[in-house]
Amino acid sequence: MAQARGHWSGSYGFILAAIGSAVGLGNIWRFSFVAGQNGGAAFVLVYLGCVLAVGIPVMLAEFLIGRHTQRNVVGSFQALRPGSAWALAGWLPAAASFVVLSYYAVVGGWVLHYIVLSLTNSFAGQSAETISGLFTDLTTSGLSQLGWHAVFMLATVVVVVRGVAGGLERGNKIMMPLLFVMLCGLLVYAVQTDGARAGIAFLLSPRWDQLTARSVLEAMGQAFFSLSIAGGIMVTYGSYMRKETDLVRPAFYIAGGDTLVALLSGLMIFPLVFTFQLEPTAGPGLIFQTLPTAFAQLPAGQLLALVFFVLLSFAALSSAISVLEAVVAYGIDEQGWSRSRATWGIGGVIFLCGIPSDLSAGFFGLADRIVTNYMLPTGGLLIAIFTGWVLSQTVRRQEFMAGGMSQRLYSGWLFLIRYVAPIAIATILAQSLHLF
Ligand code: PHE
Repeated sequence: MAQARGHWSGSYGFILAAIGSAVGLGNIWRFSFVAGQNGGAAFVLVYLGCVLAVGIPVMLAEFLIGRHTQRNVVGSFQALRPGSAWALAGWLPAAASFVVLSYYAVVGGWVLHYIVLSLTNSFAGQSAETISGLFTDLTTSGLSQLGWHAVFMLATVVVVVRGVAGGLERGNKIMMPLLFVMLCGLLVYAVQTDGARAGIAFLLSPRWDQLTARSVLEAMGQAFFSLSIAGGIMVTYGSYMRKETDLVRPAFYIAGGDTLVALLSGLMIFPLVFTFQLEPTAGPGLIFQTLPTAFAQLPAGQLLALVFFVLLSFAALSSAISVLEAVVAYGIDEQGWSRSRATWGIGGVIFLCGIPSDLSAGFFGLADRIVTNYMLPTGGLLIAIFTGWVLSQTVRRQEFMAGGMSQRLYSGWLFLIRYVAPIAIATILAQSLHLF
């Protein structure tokens, strides 16, 4: 069956698809609202620490495991340690991806709705309160939200049905660079507004008294979410990689690109939040309220809004397809389903499981918190321990060295994956248990 698996056309296609997975709503929507709710700069610093000490090492571990086994995440652990409890290290990420997509598609639906609001020029000349009201209307409307949710999920399924190189690679090559350019353009505008100083300070000058156990937990969860790690995605994407290519450099590019996009969008959003006197702690509605308010004041605001939400929808889609792919790969590899059967079936069930998130903001928030702050880090902890201590030394070393990496780099990574990452994750999780 292994021969029948799809493969990336090469390193470039792989890196782009992985960046497409990492860069998504997590960088623009989630990063800004979680940073806003957790005091800003102190959160950002811990976030950066988590990306370096935990995120990159775990991402590499996932790539190595996937490429070595050439299987999905569940199958990988079953192949490496048949019949052992390590199967959990595969099941947990797969389950996490399942839950992520259930509510991620709801937010994807919001983005689609905002494309229509831009098309109908609904923001022009409106006050900040009216624009905030549009978001409340949508999320309490039931049917319209459900409809957009369904459309987004359908789009995700349609891409994944088409398979690895055809579906997953192509869209990213055009959309990601465009999104980046658009973000930079908005950033240039945002830093010239009155609230720029306050917004930038909020994000970049830490007040240490704001660093709570909660914000540390949120920062770590956000790092996992934003990098798409511990959801089985990077294992699956690694499995579509041919042997003898370098996996280390890609991990740095992917994590670096992802972090850059998150920081730039924070630097774009918070000046606007302060300029228009919105609440940085607004929660999941933050960008849907701030950005349209800014667009409403701008010449050509309608066009900007339209372009922005279209690109954001592509970023969301390129991440959503990776999440669905991780679960679908299990159906194909382990259950022997056809790609189309696996994708429609699993996609349909995930859609149904997302409906409670349409109906209740409380449920939505709970699903997001449980998966991001607990399931993903626990999955990451298992993967780190497995790769650092259980996986055979020969396999680990060979896979790491494949692209001609130095022994020093290998030792550095081994130290992080054996000690730093597990201890950091375990400590933060243990500390946060009483916050649950
Ligand atoms: N990383 C993606 C984003 O930032 C979403 C994602 C989360 C993908 C978790 C996989 C797992 O939008």
